[in-house]
Amino acid sequence: MNQVTFAKIQEQFAQDVYKGLTDSPKHLASKYIYDEKGDLLFEEIMNLQEYYLTSCELDILKIHKAQITDLFLQNTRSLNLVELGAGNGKKTRIILEELQHRDANFHYVPIDISDNALRRLQNSLSEEFPGLKVKPKQGTYFNKLKTITSSTSTKNVILFLGSNIGNLPHKKAIEFLAQLAREMHQNDMIFLGCDQKKNPQTILDAYNDPYGKTEAFNKNLLQRINKELHANFNLDNFLHWEAYNPETGTAKSFLVSKIAQRVRIESLDLEISFAPWETIHTEISQKYDDALIAELAKSAGLRIENQFSDRKEYFKNYVLMKTTPAK
Ligand SMILES: C[S@@+](CC[C@H](N)C(=O)[O-])C[C@H]1O[C@@H](n2cnc3c(N)ncnc32)[C@H](O)[C@@H]1O
Repeated sequence: MNQVTFAKIQEQFAQDVYKGLTDSPKHLASKYIYDEKGDLLFEEIMNLQEYYLTSCELDILKIHKAQITDLFLQNTRSLNLVELGAGNGKKTRIILEELQHRDANFHYVPIDISDNALRRLQNSLSEEFPGLKVKPKQGTYFNKLKTITSSTSTKNVILFLGSNIGNLPHKKAIEFLAQLAREMHQNDMIFLGCDQKKNPQTILDAYNDPYGKTEAFNKNLLQRINKELHANFNLDNFLHWEAYNPETGTAKSFLVSKIAQRVRIESLDLEISFAPWETIHTEISQKYDDALIAELAKSAGLRIENQFSDRKEYFKNYVLMKTTPAK
C-alpha cells in the first residue's frame, strides 16, 4: 500500500472513531476490526465448530461446485471472478480449482481493505495454484469494483461470501446491492452468501464462543484505537455481549463498559466518558430467509437466478442478476 492510500485510510478511521464515540448511543464500524491481528482472529473463528457459517458455505461449494461454475460460465468462456472482502479466500479455492479444472479463461480479482490479508492470500495462491491469474486490489469495495467493471466487457461474477452482506442494515444492504447492479453489465452475476434464520441459540453460540475468540475479535477494535490513535482503553474494563432478535433476524455485537471510566484518545485530542454498563455497538449480523432476500434483491433492481443450500439448510448462496429492463 502506498503512503497516500495508507494516510487516507488512517484519516477515515480517525474520523469514524471520533464520530462513533461522540455519538449517543456509541458505535464503531466492524470493518475496522480487520488489521493483522483481526485477520488472524477471524481465521481462528472460522475454524470453530460454533461458527457454523464457514463450514456450511464450504459444504454448499463442495456439493454444488459443478452447477455453480456452469452458471458462472453460462454464455461465456472467459470471466473476471471478483471477490469483495476476500479475506483468506478459504472457500473461494473450491471455485478456483473447479474453474481451472474446466480450463476456463479467467482472472481472480480479490478486493480487500486489508493489505495484510491480500498479501497473504496472493502468496498462498501462487503456491497452491501456479499459473492462476490473480489481480489483487487493495481498497474499499466500490472504489475498486468501479475500476474493474468500467474497463472491461468480460463477464464479471462478483462473489460476496461469508454473509458479509449481513453486516449492513436492510436499507444499506439495498443501497449496496443497487450500487452493485449499477456497476454490472446485463450478463454479470452476484454470488451472495446469506446466513439463514434458525434456532436462535445456534446463532448466539456462533458469536459467543467459550474460548474467548469472538470477544478478542470484538475488542480488537479498542486495541486498534489504542495502537493507531494512541488511546488508553483498558480492555479488561469492557465485556463482549451478543444479542439476537429472532423476530427481526438481527444479531448485534456490543462492547459494554463494566465501570464508570474515562478514556483518552491522544491523536483525536478527545476524552470520552463511559457510564457503568454503557454500550458501544460494533457489528450487526443479519439472518435471512428467501422472502427477505427476494425483497432486498427486487428493491435493488436484481432477481434471484438460482440458489444453493447446505445439507443442514443453515446457509444459502444466491445467484443474482440484473432485472431485465422493460422493453
Ligand atoms: C468476515 S471477513 C470474510 C472473508 C471472506 N469473504 C469469507 O467469507 O471468509 C471480511 C473481509 O472483508 C474485508 N472488508 C470488510 N469491510 C470492507 C470494505 N468496506 N471494503 C473492502 N474490504 C472489506 C475485511 O478486511 C475481511 O478480510
